[in-house]
Amino acid sequence: MMVRLDKYLADLGAGTRSEVKNGIRKGRAAVDGRIVKRPEEKIDADLCRVTYDGIPIAYRKWVYYMMNKPAGVVSAVKDHKERTVLDLLDGWKRKGLFPAGRLDKDTEGLLIITNDGDLAHRMLSPGKHVDKVYYAHILGNVSAEDAAAFAAGIDIGDDKPTLPAKLEILSADEVSEVMVTIHEGRYHQVKRMFLALGKQVIYLKRTAMGSLLLDQTLAPGEYRELTKEEIKQLC
Ligand code: URA
Repeated sequence: MMVRLDKYLADLGAGTRSEVKNGIRKGRAAVDGRIVKRPEEKIDADLCRVTYDGIPIAYRKWVYYMMNKPAGVVSAVKDHKERTVLDLLDGWKRKGLFPAGRLDKDTEGLLIITNDGDLAHRMLSPGKHVDKVYYAHILGNVSAEDAAAFAAGIDIGDDKPTLPAKLEILSADEVSEVMVTIHEGRYHQVKRMFLALGKQVIYLKRTAMGSLLLDQTLAPGEYRELTKEEIKQLC
């Protein structure tokens, strides 16, 4: 695929088109080891080896990141008031990235950021019922009756009750620790399920989606690319 050098670099997130044009004119880009100063020069995106500031740039159509979303940022591309998960990506930002799915502002944990709209659609479409696993702290003593209510499905004020869900009690006290597995992705679903039972979620973290597990080495706010195996799992 032949493409202009400035477009290639801008599409891969090296900067805006005009930033990249300036950079190229200043000699920051090289193609197959040769400095190229003409932004309009056409390169073969499949064959050429491109570097920018000496960093090799590999063209991949689709990119997939796993982020451990921290509390306090919103799952959006842009927001005029709040910091977004995309604001946390440093360095180059590939065009067209978006979070596949949402976690509430105060929820932490596994979030996929990608430019692959088809994958997001497949993962999130209501018919898919991809399992989502959450670790939570609940105000109050979570009981076996609560677990039974989760297993039966709970009326949270929507047209239909939730699908049966799994509630595993790790410890029960004034604040209880639980793991919850749900098969849908309704708005504030976990919080609303507990609220329907008169209890409040005070900490929530997603730990898995389908067979994809949150990488425990990622601190809140950190992210990494998915491995080939992980991408396969998602697909
Ligand atoms: N359920 C919630 O209530 N909040 C989330 O962020 C995710 C699931």
